[in-house]
Amino acid sequence: MKKKPHHPPVPDRAEKERTQRVPPPPRRARDRILVALDVQTLKEADDLVDRLHDVVGGFKIGHQLFTAHGPKAIHHIRGKSGRIFLDLKYHDIPATVAKSAREAARLGAWMMTVHAAGGREMMMRCKEAAFEYAVAHRTPPPIIVAVTVLTSLTQLELIRDLGISRNLDEQVRHLANLAQGAGLDGVVASPNEIRLIRESCGPQFVIVSPGIRPAGAEAHDQKRTAEPAQALSDGADYLVIGRPITGAPDPAAAAEAIVSEIEQQGGQPLQETRHR
Ligand code: C5P
Repeated sequence: MKKKPHHPPVPDRAEKERTQRVPPPPRRARDRILVALDVQTLKEADDLVDRLHDVVGGFKIGHQLFTAHGPKAIHHIRGKSGRIFLDLKYHDIPATVAKSAREAARLGAWMMTVHAAGGREMMMRCKEAAFEYAVAHRTPPPIIVAVTVLTSLTQLELIRDLGISRNLDEQVRHLANLAQGAGLDGVVASPNEIRLIRESCGPQFVIVSPGIRPAGAEAHDQKRTAEPAQALSDGADYLVIGRPITGAPDPAAAAEAIVSEIEQQGGQPLQETRHR
């Protein structure tokens, strides 16, 4: 039998506005912190979520937890905390990434990542696929952000290993503009590049910043880092923080200390953050 052609649902104007508008970032500092659950077992993830769900704004599930436990990790944690940032940094041919984005939307990811280096078409198809799913199922679409240049890379590695001769800042700006042009909601970028992305991409573009280190904390493998208050006052919408919280003897106390560090140093700039 001949297969029926696939016609995506056509959204009306109200539906389009509802599904395309990215909510503004929360005002409270704590709600802008997303904790990276870079752990091996569901039990460890569970413990962290139990201790932290009242203290922070959401949780990031990355390659380690997802490779070990798959969608179970998401279902498990979604029951306890609404905001799941699925950070699988898709980078593949457009058709494959589009299908993966649809699955991420189906799993209820609140935010998800792709690599901007995957190209314009890949990003456009990814956005379309997640949007189509959201319209068809009357759910909010995931916020889709593109990774620009990993926070663990330096200028030297960019030139020597990746063969990219552009200045690192210029490369980040270029990829952020590419992602915006492809219709993505924002980017993941190191705190060092927040200002230049804000300038280049405007107030509506979501900026998610990993590589966050509170005063005196160990950098680990992160090379382009900043303190949390600085990153927020420079214009980040969300901060991704892993080891400084998850590796602390008391993760909730570590998260609370970060929140008060932000409130003391960055309270004012945070109040003044633009509203979409
Ligand atoms: O432990 P730490 O705070 O360094 O964790 C940062 C998290 O942010 C990790 O889960 C890492 O995968 C993620 N990330 C990053 N740099 C990017 C994109 C994501 O460090 N450019």
